[in-house]
Amino acid sequence: MSSDEQKKRAGEAAAQRVEAGMVVGLGTGSTAAWFVRALADRGLSGLRCVPTSEATADLARELGLPLSTLEDTPRIDLTVDGADEVGPGLALIKGGGAALLREKLVWEASARCIVIADAAKVVDRLGRFRLPIEVVAFGHRTTANRIADVLADHGFGQGAALRTAERGIVRTDGGNVIYDAPSGVIENPAQLAADLKSLTGVVEHGLFLDLADEAIIGLDSGVEHLNP
Ligand code: A5P
Repeated sequence: MSSDEQKKRAGEAAAQRVEAGMVVGLGTGSTAAWFVRALADRGLSGLRCVPTSEATADLARELGLPLSTLEDTPRIDLTVDGADEVGPGLALIKGGGAALLREKLVWEASARCIVIADAAKVVDRLGRFRLPIEVVAFGHRTTANRIADVLADHGFGQGAALRTAERGIVRTDGGNVIYDAPSGVIENPAQLAADLKSLTGVVEHGLFLDLADEAIIGLDSGVEHLNP
């Protein structure tokens, strides 16, 4: 079974958790997209869906899901979203799709958050995936120097790299840029999170700690449920 089939399985299982009339946070990425499709297939009445990116908003709109915004529906019943890594205690790395800021805003406004992933995302220690850090575009290279100092304090031998794609520097939906820390075991995720957040110019980072209430992991044989 491919990882995409595992993602689909996790997304479909999570869609079963949604009830009619709920306000639902829609995550971003390929796994979250399976959830969005499965949710649309259920045809539940009275849903209001808050997307975490323009890409997810486009998909949900196409599928006929009723959209809302965090401004209009500041309290969300349930958010379902993917992750780049699922570590012990359901500590997560997110932001591979550059949507981490909106994702975290929606997660923090949610009564319950379910993370969905394929089996390869589950790790014993965070840090195999490069930690994304969202930075204000103004003076971003200066901020990157300060990020490098923080990373050095946490045992990283290199600073973070500006994320680029074919069209040049990647911009988030909010117009910021992304720096990716090198991969390497994150010994103290809470301290690294606090140190990164203390830097002017850092908008957010992809460490999602104490936010996930449950993980649904797609396996070849079904799904596995993990609790913090
Ligand atoms: C988006 O910014 C991310 O947080 C995604 O949720 C994460 O990168 C997982 O993406 P996939 O489901 O595509 O692996």
